[in-house]
Amino acid sequence: MSDVLTLRPLLDADLPALPDLLNQAFASHDETQWYAPELLASAWQWEWQAARLSLAAEVNGQLVGATLVALRRALHQGEPLLLAHVGPVAVSAQAQGQGLGTQMLAAVEAAARAAGADLLTLGTEERFPAHRLYRRLGYRVVERSRTAIALLDGRRAAQALGKPWLGGLLALLESRGKPDAQVQFHDGADALPELRAQTPPRANALVELPLGPRPPMAQFPGFVAQCQDAALGLLTWPVIARPAGREVTMRVVQVLWSSGAGPALAKATVAALARAREEGAASAFALAGSARRVPGLLLPGGPRVLRMAKGISAAGERQLAAMQAWDEWAPGP
Ligand SMILES: CC(C)(COP(=O)(O)OP(=O)(O)OC[C@H]1O[C@@H](n2cnc3c(N)ncnc32)[C@H](O)[C@@H]1OP(=O)(O)O)[C@@H](O)C(=O)NCCC(=O)NCCS
Repeated sequence: MSDVLTLRPLLDADLPALPDLLNQAFASHDETQWYAPELLASAWQWEWQAARLSLAAEVNGQLVGATLVALRRALHQGEPLLLAHVGPVAVSAQAQGQGLGTQMLAAVEAAARAAGADLLTLGTEERFPAHRLYRRLGYRVVERSRTAIALLDGRRAAQALGKPWLGGLLALLESRGKPDAQVQFHDGADALPELRAQTPPRANALVELPLGPRPPMAQFPGFVAQCQDAALGLLTWPVIARPAGREVTMRVVQVLWSSGAGPALAKATVAALARAREEGAASAFALAGSARRVPGLLLPGGPRVLRMAKGISAAGERQLAAMQAWDEWAPGP
């Protein structure tokens, strides 16, 4: 009997099976996000469930693939756009390379067009082969940048690299600082939206409008560090590293946004990184667009990340054509 592929909407009932599917699909990457059940449940509740565009792929009734899709609002050159944001996309290891991903993405595109979306968007990394697939399907790179990193716990980072003997040396590179009485912490990386709104967007950037507060995650908390009129919002992510076939889980913290500048921002950053370290984060990172403004996130060498998009309405195609690909290494005007 030949295999029967079914594509259908991803449902609440599929949620328990998602962590295993995603973690297993991404197992060929030497370091990726660890898709913890709590993290997926929170994102499902926050944006995937309401969009009703996520897909499950089944072969002979068994779940072998999933594509998560969220609807987001954005502005480009003042024109409002509806984004269908795609990802993660995953096909179980045994079923990869047989066309399933291509079929899922075609179905997602058709559904996003029917929902009135203007652009499909996604984020990926240059080191993952998946970006070739996205290019083949008509996605274009709209941003290429390198993540900036601060090392918080050299010994933990050395474990993740599979080289524990490097721990002492890496500990010398740790970004350390003392908490400052002027810095206040607020729970939730989306707290203090009024400060976040001050961050000036890059010229000609696609600006996503805030979605509203994320449901709090007890295990993977986020917080805002504020010093006078400067602040930064951080979110903890669980990561899985696979040095020499072993699996090492750790926490890393992302600086999602920052506002303000000068000594106040520097103080907020030092205090935020000290707290993240205390809470067990091995390193901190930020996409270069926001990191340029965050003192202390300097170690270069993080992975190159790509933001890709495909226009699926007249407005989306028009705005995408006007969007200048922004490259950290050769910034456009
Ligand atoms: C990316 C992924 C969803 C594609 O699904 P798929 O069913 O394997 O894709 P298809 O068979 O339709 O297309 C194959 C293309 O996907 C890309 N690809 C990515 N990972 C691949 C893998 N492990 N095996 C084969 N192709 C892969 C390649 O570009 C390939 O095309 P090419 O060989 O012409 O360059 C799937 O391979 C996967 O789950 N990979 C691991 C998780 C991942 O990297 N997700 C995307 C992160 S942004």
